Amino acid sequence: MSKAKITVVGAGNVGATTAQIIASKGLGDVVLLDIVKGMGEGKALDLAEAKGVYASAGNLLGTTDWSLTVNSDIVIITSGMPRKPGMSRDDLLAKNAGIVKSVTEQIVRTSPNCIIIVVCNPLDAMTHVAAKVSGFDKKRVIGMAGALDSARFACFIAEELGVDIGDIRGVLMGGHGDDMVPLPRFTSIAGIPLPELMAPEKIEALIERARKGGIEIVNLLGYSAYYAPACGAVKMVEAILNDSKTIMSCCAYCQGEYGIGGAFVGVPVMLGSGGVANVLTLNLNEKETADLNESVNHVKALVEKVEKMI
Ligand code: NAI
Ligand code: 2OP
Repeated sequence: MSKAKITVVGAGNVGATTAQIIASKGLGDVVLLDIVKGMGEGKALDLAEAKGVYASAGNLLGTTDWSLTVNSDIVIITSGMPRKPGMSRDDLLAKNAGIVKSVTEQIVRTSPNCIIIVVCNPLDAMTHVAAKVSGFDKKRVIGMAGALDSARFACFIAEELGVDIGDIRGVLMGGHGDDMVPLPRFTSIAGIPLPELMAPEKIEALIERARKGGIEIVNLLGYSAYYAPACGAVKMVEAILNDSKTIMSCCAYCQGEYGIGGAFVGVPVMLGSGGVANVLTLNLNEKETADLNESVNHVKALVEKVEKMI
């Protein structure tokens, strides 16, 4: 494959960090676009100067000009308001729906064959907006949340058990909200199911912490997390560019899987060059199904609201 072109929309905390990691890994050439003049340009220049210290393979261009993004292979949408202490992700709905709509219109015009990765919150509803406005094949529109939420869950498990975080693999489903559904039965440490190594009450406590993982950081920083979110987005980029068929939790379109009739929601998928190659259907038990349904209903209610805004 020729060198990939990846556009990151929004040169704020998540966007600039995502661009930095992509460039430093040499995954392709990056265009960092922001609506604020100087923002993308300034961060791209700073990163170009960093090459004088640590060489990195990828080129990085900062801009406000959509014409420079033309024919991107992947476009990552991070342009949106982050929440502040006291806010829920859902509070961002109206503001970010307008931003994601206008950005998606530009993407359709400039990169009609790209894969879109949505990062803005509320994640599942914003992925719906990007899919609806773009009219792209739904396999090419994917939301990033599962990679982050699974990583958070893995971080807390590793801390608790004193094990290597790299040995932990987890599956997480549902919307990217306080009712997300981490699945301990499908979480393993070097192949050993989590419930073999941890008491049920402890697992419950860590699930609760993962669900509140976003706000834990907002309360510490005063603004939203960005290092782990950027890593989640880059992991998706790598799976797509390498056509690796990596299995990871992403916000993907379900049409019947898990009884979910037509909604973008977190599910385990195989990611490859065309986007979502496959949604994996696990055999969930009664409690897992009930938790998933509750989370999906929440997402559907938000989508109903956002439909009136776009
Ligand atoms: P930020 O405020 O640091 O950056 C947002 C950037 O988008 C700003 O530079 C702003 O100028 C730009 N922007 C706004 N409208 C634009 C437009 N129409 N075109 C181009 N650029 C535009 O925010 P941060 O922390 O980077 O978060 C970005 C979004 O990602 C938020 O909605 C946040 O809630 C979400 N997020 C989602 C996560 C997930 O797991 N899905 C994790 C972390 C953040
Ligand atoms: C997070 O979970 C804010 O969604 C973002 O950190």
